[in-house]
Amino acid sequence: MKPTYLVTGGAGFIGSWFVTAMRQSRTARIVNLDALTYAGNPDNLAELQNDPDHILVHGNINDGELVARLLAEHRPDAVVHFAAESHVDRSILDPDAFIRTNVLGTGVLLGAALRYWNGLPAGRKDRFRFLHVSTDEVFGSLGPQDPPFTESTPYDPKSPYSASKAGSDHLVRAFFATYGLPVLVTNCSNNYGPRQFPEKLIPLMICNAVSGKPLPLYGKGENVRDWLHVEDHCAAIALVLEKGRAGETYLIGGKAERTNLDLVTSLCAVLDRLAPSNAGPHANAITFVTDRPGHDLRYAVSPAKIERDLGWTPKHTLETGLEDTVRWYLANADWVRRVQDGTYRRWMEINYAKR
Ligand code: NAD
Ligand code: DAU
Repeated sequence: MKPTYLVTGGAGFIGSWFVTAMRQSRTARIVNLDALTYAGNPDNLAELQNDPDHILVHGNINDGELVARLLAEHRPDAVVHFAAESHVDRSILDPDAFIRTNVLGTGVLLGAALRYWNGLPAGRKDRFRFLHVSTDEVFGSLGPQDPPFTESTPYDPKSPYSASKAGSDHLVRAFFATYGLPVLVTNCSNNYGPRQFPEKLIPLMICNAVSGKPLPLYGKGENVRDWLHVEDHCAAIALVLEKGRAGETYLIGGKAERTNLDLVTSLCAVLDRLAPSNAGPHANAITFVTDRPGHDLRYAVSPAKIERDLGWTPKHTLETGLEDTVRWYLANADWVRRVQDGTYRRWMEINYAKR
C-alpha cells in the first residue's frame, strides 16, 4: 500500500513543489497541514485540485489537538516538516511570529509525533521518519576564504529567523537523542524557482524589473549566497526520506556561489533578452539601499555527504535555472497579480519606505 506523509507548510514555495512531486510520482498520499499565512498560497497546489490523495488541511502546527487528530486519523508513515516563517527581513521587524511557529510549533509537532510513534506497532515504528527541513543559515556567516559549511560546522545563527531555525534543529536532534524518535534533518542553501513569494531576492528583482521599478540591493551587493533550484532541493529531501539514516543531518547545496550583485546582473541580462525595457538595460535600475542589520556576509554548503552516501546530484545549473525561472514569472502574470494583494503591498511599504 502507498505510504501516507503528513506534510506541514505544503502550500508554501518549497512545500508545494515537494507535495506536487510526491503526487505526480504517486510516491505517497499527502495530508498537507498549512496555516495559509501570507506565504501559503492554495494557487500553488492548483494541479492537485481534483486529486483525492492530496488532502489540504487549513490549520496551525501550534494546535496540538489538531496535529494529534490528524496523526490518529491518517496514520502517516512520515512527517515532513516545512512549515515556518521563512523571511529574514520579516524576522528582524517581528521576531515573535518566528519564535512561535519555528520553535514552539516545531516543539508541538515533535511532542505529538512522539506520542503517535510510541503507539505504532513494531514494523511501522521502525520505518517511521520525522524529517525536519532546515537552512544553512543556522551556521552563521563565512569569511571570503573559509571552507563551505559541513554537517560538523558549529551552529552560530545571527538573525531571529536563523536563531529560531537553529532552536528547532536542536529540538529535533534532542528528540532523537532523548526518546529515539527517528528524525532526519536537512540544511539547505538558498532556493529559487517558480512560485517563490516575491519578497525574496530573485522573484522580487524579476517582478520589479518588469514593472520598471528600482532593483534594491542591500549594502554594496557583495554578500554571497549559494543557490539551488527548488526542484533539486525537493529531490534531495525525497532521497533523504527514502534512504537517509535516522538521527543524521544532511547538508544540501548547489555549489553555485554568487555575490548578490553578480546574481542580479545575470538576471538583468536574461531579462534584457526575454523582456527588454524601452528605458535601456535592466541593470540600470540597480539601486544600492541601506544594508540588512546583521547581514551575513557569505553562505556556502558542501553537499559531499549527501552526494557520497545517497547519490544525490542536482539537475539544474544556475544559468538554465535562472532563465527558466524568469520565463515562468513572465508567463504567469496572473499568479503574480494574485499574490500582490494588500498584505504584500503593506509589507513592501514597511520594508522599503525608510531605506
Ligand atoms: P514559505 O514561507 O514559502 O512557506 C512556508 C509555509 O508554511 C507557508 O505555506 C505557510 O502558510 C506555512 N506556515 C507558516 N506558519 C505555519 C504554522 N504555524 N502552521 C502551519 N503552517 C504554517 O517558505 P519556504 O521558502 O517554502 O521554506 C520552507 C521551509 O524550508 C522552511 O522551513 C524554511 O526554513 C526552509 N528553507 C527554505 C529555504 C529557502 O531558500 N526558501 C532554504 C532552506 C531551507
Ligand atoms: O540560505 C537559506 C535561506 O535563504 C532560507 O533559509 C530562507 O528561508 C530564505 O529566505 C533565504 O534567506 P536570505 O536572507 O538569504 O534570502 P533573501 O532572498 O531574503 O535574500 C538573499 C540575499 O539578497 C541576501 O543577501 C539579502 C539580499 N537582498 C534581499 C532582498 C529581499 C537584497 O540585496 N535586496 C532585497 O531586496
